[in-house]
Amino acid sequence: MARILLLHGPNLSQLGTRDPAVYGTATLDEVVADAREEAEHAGAVLDHLQTEHEGVLLERIHAARTDGTDAVVVNAGAWTHTSFALRDALELFDGPVVELHLSNIHARESFRATSVLSAVCDGLICGFQRHGYPLAVRAALALLADGDDGDADDAGPA
Ligand code: DQA
Repeated sequence: MARILLLHGPNLSQLGTRDPAVYGTATLDEVVADAREEAEHAGAVLDHLQTEHEGVLLERIHAARTDGTDAVVVNAGAWTHTSFALRDALELFDGPVVELHLSNIHARESFRATSVLSAVCDGLICGFQRHGYPLAVRAALALLADGDDGDADDAGPA
């Protein structure tokens, strides 16, 4: 049974009332429920963590290396644009990693257009608000079904 770890970074606890025009009106519990429903429908299990503390997120990713986690879906919030530590932790994880954002980070302020995480993720889903969650879970499961080793540079430039 595939095990997917869904991770949320800072301020995503405020979904539902946080800038609904950008992020939609779904709460964190609702988007996690969407993701879990998609995973369970496919016979997989979804674990979840949201934190405002970067070290907590790093330690959860370290644990995921050996606790049976098969794939990671991560909406890192603003750490997406700033955290080389998070990038390095995700790079250590030996399975598919899907980067996820509710908003289209390329259609907003210029600082959001740079993700320091994308280079170590297998793919990126952004701009579909809550609808992105089931898509990200499906992408992770599809990569697992393909036997993807989560090595983001497999398909990258030589
Ligand atoms: C976000 C986009 C980030 O730029 C922002 O800092 C967030 C949410 C998104 O889901 O669209 O906190 O990751």
